[in-house]
Amino acid sequence: MYNIAIDGPAGAGKSTIAKIVAKELGFIYVDTGSMYRTMALSCYRAGIKADEEEKVVAKCREAEISIRYENGVQKMKLNNEDVSGEIRQEVIGNMTSAIAVYGPVRERLVEMQRDIASKNNVVMDGRDIATAVLPNADLKIYLTASSKTRAERRYNELLEKGVDCNIEDIEKDIKDRDYRDMNREISPLKKADDAVLIDSSNMNIEEVVNKIKELAKEGK
Ligand code: DC
Repeated sequence: MYNIAIDGPAGAGKSTIAKIVAKELGFIYVDTGSMYRTMALSCYRAGIKADEEEKVVAKCREAEISIRYENGVQKMKLNNEDVSGEIRQEVIGNMTSAIAVYGPVRERLVEMQRDIASKNNVVMDGRDIATAVLPNADLKIYLTASSKTRAERRYNELLEKGVDCNIEDIEKDIKDRDYRDMNREISPLKKADDAVLIDSSNMNIEEVVNKIKELAKEGK
């Protein structure tokens, strides 16, 4: 199996890029953030707060989560209900980063992720793919961009969806999320020593996709 790992902070464009690379190479795209988001949604729906560690862990142990591919698109199911749309909300994104610090929550998802990668050629994106989930991935990418660029991209995305928002608040949320993701005890976000760093601040989507495909072709 050929495994490509893409890690990086929120809003760096990982999922957009990973999706295109996977499609063009005929690989499966695995969005691990959605798996953590589904866990967060199950807690949110139960009225559990992110800092209630025991309750979060118990809820995540019992939550029935599964991943399906429909026409190549990843769908997340929670107790057999398709929650792929609901997990994209900002409130869930912020809660996800807060519950992703707990070891037992991570263990369960890491196991699912490794299982998928052992059976398929994948482009998998997340925060700890190259450092913890697939340390032997064939190609490791660390995709980043300045927090200002990331906030602008998110702002435009939300505007397009007709969501009323403020760019300063978005940049603050992004910085808070980066801090939590990079400073947690278990599997913090960091570049693996052998990952290729790509800063997309001044690159368009096509340029980043081509760069990754070139690296895959070179067998890096
Ligand atoms: O990529 P995303 O925005 O959907 O991720 C949401 C949160 O999930 C992110 O802030 C941290 C957490 N996450 C993680 O801890 N490990 C991963 N492999 C993927 C996401």
